[in-house]
Amino acid sequence: MNAIRPVVFSGMQPSSDSLHLGNYLGALVNWVALQDTYDPIYCVVDLHAITVQQDPAALHANVRRTAAQYLASGVDLERSTLFVQSHVPAHAELAWVLSTITGFGEASRMTQFKDKSAKQGADATTVGLFTYPVLMAADILLYGTELVPVGDDQRQHLELTRDLAGRFNSRFGDTFVVPEALIPTESARIYDLQEPTAKMSKSANSEAGLVKLMDEPAVTAKKFRSAVTDTGREVRYDPAGKPGISNLLDILAATTGRSIVELEIEYEGRGYGDFKKDVAEAVVERLTPIRARTLELLEDPAELDRLLAIGAEKASERAERMLRTAYDRVGF
Ligand code: ADP
Ligand code: NA
Repeated sequence: MNAIRPVVFSGMQPSSDSLHLGNYLGALVNWVALQDTYDPIYCVVDLHAITVQQDPAALHANVRRTAAQYLASGVDLERSTLFVQSHVPAHAELAWVLSTITGFGEASRMTQFKDKSAKQGADATTVGLFTYPVLMAADILLYGTELVPVGDDQRQHLELTRDLAGRFNSRFGDTFVVPEALIPTESARIYDLQEPTAKMSKSANSEAGLVKLMDEPAVTAKKFRSAVTDTGREVRYDPAGKPGISNLLDILAATTGRSIVELEIEYEGRGYGDFKKDVAEAVVERLTPIRARTLELLEDPAELDRLLAIGAEKASERAERMLRTAYDRVGF
């Protein structure tokens, strides 16, 4: 048997004080599962975070809080490499090289940039936001990544990464692995509890619809009790007709490992109140140890920084090797 496991790369921005239930069920649970079969590289992408204005003290704290939440959710340092992007200078260095083979028109076609810059206006939009996908390509290509777990919103950026890898290879000689998208088989998409047709997001409109990993258990329970449903009385899975109930069913299924059909049968003839109370309990039960472990990790900042330094060293060694090769090919 081949002992070399394929490399997977993924990251999240440290741009809030807590990850949310969508990040956990939609990404972190999958990250943890991938450790069994892959060689995962998990990154706190702080260089990406500063493409929009951040408060320095908050950013510093959020980097640690994000890393602590990865660890508390089950990212295992024996099987994964966990590090902070700005600790490994090769990311910014390779991004520069890749930016010189990226077409201006090509980068201008990125829909995420078009959406975000349209919202912010030209003067508030940074060049960093424009080149963000090139930095993402560097993140991925530095590690010989074969697979990238991506949501719909990152597909176009992964396509660009693939194009840049192929272009570099044909211009300068075979250097980068051209990565593929890894579509998780059962990745839950979680919606806002107050507005169940909108994706749960840190930039949610209302605090009440956003379930944070770091919320106190009583706060989480209250958010579920006040979740928007509909005027009917059946607990039935129908995302178009009953988005609120369907979202709660998805959340209960994902947190308990039970099937939707099984849950529909269990709640037949019972009211929404009972159902919402059970969803609240299941989520609280799942998140309580994660929150507790996160707080424990944050109580010892020196130890957390030590773990992140080890991760940075592991990542640097690999990234530097690839950067050296790329520099060499370019003629440096
Ligand atoms: P946000 O939308 O809150 O800004 P990010 O875009 O930083 O979150 O996403 C970080 C990771 O979490 C990505 O892998 C993304 O696919 C996943 N994710 C974010 N929101 C959700 C959600 N509501 N449901 C499922 N997965 C989500
Ligand atoms: Na987002």
